[in-house]
Amino acid sequence: MASNVTFHPGSVTAEERRELLNQKGATIWLTGLSASGKSTIACALEQHLLHLHKFTYRLDGDNIRFGLNKDLGFDEKARNENIRRIGEVSKLFSDASAITVTAFISPYRQDRTVARELHDKSGIPFIEVYVDAPLEVVEQRDPKGLYKKARAGEIKEFTGISAPYEAPETPEIHIKTDEISVAEAVQQITDYLTSKGFI
Ligand SMILES: Nc1ncnc2c1ncn2[C@@H]1O[C@H](COP(=O)(O)OP(=O)(O)OP(=O)(O)O)[C@@H](O)[C@H]1O
Ligand SMILES: [Mg+2]
Repeated sequence: MASNVTFHPGSVTAEERRELLNQKGATIWLTGLSASGKSTIACALEQHLLHLHKFTYRLDGDNIRFGLNKDLGFDEKARNENIRRIGEVSKLFSDASAITVTAFISPYRQDRTVARELHDKSGIPFIEVYVDAPLEVVEQRDPKGLYKKARAGEIKEFTGISAPYEAPETPEIHIKTDEISVAEAVQQITDYLTSKGFI
């Protein structure tokens, strides 16, 4: 960290913000293999929550790589930094009272732990959602043709093929997208949020 930098606290407490806006922020962190359904579920969830008049914002891996993270590649170090930044950004959005939905492969357990701890420290709920489908299924779906390219050796360090995916051990929510529909997945997440009093 740079020296001569002092944190400047605001004059509105988190509790006041929550009461004044009548909304509590939370981060819903979707993790899973490419084509497991993160972006598809994130979009449908965003729609659903907005229709419930909840301030919701989606951060999607592909989109963030067009802007904030366009300087990053896909080796382990770059993936660490990708997720570190998204951990910080999602925390900021949720601190501003948004229900923040992130859709990143986020293959490393340690990176997700760092994001979780960042939220914990600020008292912001962090809901890890394992968007799960077997490799055979996602490879069959292959909506962007990436698995085909990875198998042909045209993409290096592709998660599930030539780079690791460390599945969550104790996610708050586990969604098996080869067994349930997108609408059911949205319902599963919404039910969880309701049961915890987050919405
Ligand atoms: N139950 C389901 N839930 C989500 N997606 C599903 C489901 N069943 C089939 N699909 C299909 O699986 C594909 C998932 O693609 P999507 O882009 O959402 O994956 P992703 O996890 O965001 O991948 P990436 O990490 O590459 O961005 C879509 O084509 C979607 O229509
Ligand atoms: Mg996606």
